[in-house]
Amino acid sequence: MIRFPESFVWGTATSAFQIEGATKADGRGESIWDRFCYTEGKVKNGDTGDIACDHFHLYQEDVRLMRDLHIQSYRFSISWPRIFPQGTGQANLKGLDFYKRLIDQLLKQGIEPMATIYHWDLPQALEDQGGWQNREMVDHFEQYASFLYEELGDVVKKWITHNEPWVVAYLGYGNGEFAPGIKGFEEYLRAAHHVLLSHGKSVSAFREKGPKDGQIGITFNLNSTYAGSPSREDQEAARRYDGFLNRWYLDPVFKGEYPKDMLDLYLQKYNLDFVQDGDLKAISQPIDFLGINYYSIMTALDESQAEDVLKFQALKTGRPTTAMDWEIEPNGLFDLLVRINKEYCSKTPIFITENGAAFEDQVVNGEIMDDDRLDYIKQHLQACHKGIEHGINVSGYYVWSLLDNFEWASGYEKRFGIVHVDFDSLKRTPKKSALWYKEVISNQGCFE
Ligand code: FCB
Repeated sequence: MIRFPESFVWGTATSAFQIEGATKADGRGESIWDRFCYTEGKVKNGDTGDIACDHFHLYQEDVRLMRDLHIQSYRFSISWPRIFPQGTGQANLKGLDFYKRLIDQLLKQGIEPMATIYHWDLPQALEDQGGWQNREMVDHFEQYASFLYEELGDVVKKWITHNEPWVVAYLGYGNGEFAPGIKGFEEYLRAAHHVLLSHGKSVSAFREKGPKDGQIGITFNLNSTYAGSPSREDQEAARRYDGFLNRWYLDPVFKGEYPKDMLDLYLQKYNLDFVQDGDLKAISQPIDFLGINYYSIMTALDESQAEDVLKFQALKTGRPTTAMDWEIEPNGLFDLLVRINKEYCSKTPIFITENGAAFEDQVVNGEIMDDDRLDYIKQHLQACHKGIEHGINVSGYYVWSLLDNFEWASGYEKRFGIVHVDFDSLKRTPKKSALWYKEVISNQGCFE
C-alpha cells in the first residue's frame, strides 16, 4: 500500500488544438497546425483539428466529467490564434471569452486551472514571418503572455510558458515531422534558442505583470538515456543524446549556459551566432516549478557512420511498448527525478505535467477495460511515490490525457484518453483507468 502526501495535486492535461475543434469560431485565426493538417501527407488519414473533441462547445460537459472523476487540477493550453488571430495587434476578445467561461466553470467545480501559454499552435501569420526562427518571435510571445497575465491572472495562478521546447524546435524545424514541417539542424537550433529566450523574457514579465500569488514554470519532455552497452562509444552516444534532448534545455534554464560538450559538437558544423550577449542570463530566470512530461526512455548506440552530428542510434531493448511503439519503463521516471533533483533543482517543486499511454482500446458492451493503460499510470505513480520517499519534491501528477484526442501527426488513431471519445457522436465514456484514478484520488492517494 502506498500513500501520497495530502498536498499532492491530482490532475489531467489536454491542449487546445488537440481537443477544442471550432477552428473558425468567434474570429479564431489560422494556426500552423491547421495549415499542416491540410497539407497532403503530413497527418495520418488526412485528419484535421476542425472538430476534434468539440471541447469548444462541450467544455461544460468536460468540466463536469472532471468533477465526477474528482480531478483536482486541470492543465489546458490557450490557443494563441484565438486570442490574436494574426499573432500580434488587436486582441480578439471573443476568443479570450472562451477561456474565461472555461475557467469560471472550473473554479465553480472546485478544479484548479493550470494554463499552458504555448502548446504548439502558432498563428500562421507569425510563421509567415519565419516563426520561431525569427528573433522577433521573442517579443511577440512576451506580449501575448503579458496580455494573458493581465486578463486571466486574477483567476489562473499556475502558468506554464512552453510545452516541450524540444518538440516545438526539433520536430517543427529540425526533422519536420510536426508543423510547420521545416527540416534543418541549424534551423532547429535557432528555433530552440528563441523558444528558450521567449520563456525567460515572459517569466520576467510575469514577475512584473502576473499575479503576485501566482507561480510560473516551463514543461520539458525529458527522458532517461542509457547506453546500449558498457563500451566507451555507446556511453558517449548516450551522453550526446542526453545533451541533445535533456541538457540543451535544462542547462540554460537552471545554469544559464549551454552544455559545453554539446556547444563544441554543434559549433563544428553550425553557426550559432543567433545566441547574443545577455541571452543566457535572460533565459535563466528563477522559476517556481519545473514541469516534466515523461513517457519513455532512450537506449543509445554509437553510430559513427551517421552523417549528422549526434551519431547515435536508438536501440530497441525488448521492453513492452505502447501503441506509439514507445518502450514502457517506469524506473526511467524515477532515475530522471533523482537526476533532476541532484543536478538541477533540489528545491524547486516538480510537477509531472504529462504521463500516460496510447493503447488500442476496445469498447465492449459500452465499457472500455483499458488495463494496460491503468497499469502504465499506476507504475508511473509508484515511481513518483518512490521519488517522494527519496525526498524529491514531486508536487503533482497530470495524466495525459483527459480525453482521446487529435494526436498530432498520428491523427485520431492513437488514443491517450482516460475517457473514451467516439469521434462520430462525440460521446464521452470514462474508461476503467479513469474510474481507477478517481478511486485513488478519493482514497487520498492510497493504492495497493
Ligand atoms: C506530448 C505532447 C502532448 C501529447 C503527448 C502524447 O509530447 O505534449 O500534446 O501529444 O505527447
